[in-house]
Amino acid sequence: MQHPTPGVGDTSKIERGVDRFGRADVWLAYAMAEVTIQPTKNGSYLVKGPITIIGVDGTAYELEGDEHWLCRCGHSQTKPFCDTSHKRVGFQSEPRVSDGLTC
Ligand code: FES
Repeated sequence: MQHPTPGVGDTSKIERGVDRFGRADVWLAYAMAEVTIQPTKNGSYLVKGPITIIGVDGTAYELEGDEHWLCRCGHSQTKPFCDTSHKRVGFQSEPRVSDGLTC
């Protein structure tokens, strides 16, 4: 199966397909056109814009609001959302986004 590529104006597609790691028959969601993701210093990801979270069973949850804080430390009791546990565990990370980009 060919990996689908979202196109211009293709902002809310959810479908089954092959992900970029070659895993077949997984849920793929495209809602990035209006979304920004910002890792915060020693904390969570700040996601701005309308987003849909897909559960492991494929259920889609459309989130209300324009700002969402997603756990990056792995210690939240409310994953995928941040519950500020990163402060309790002393999570430290100051990522440079450019380090992970290959383009
Ligand atoms: S980043 Fe806040 S609880 Fe994990």
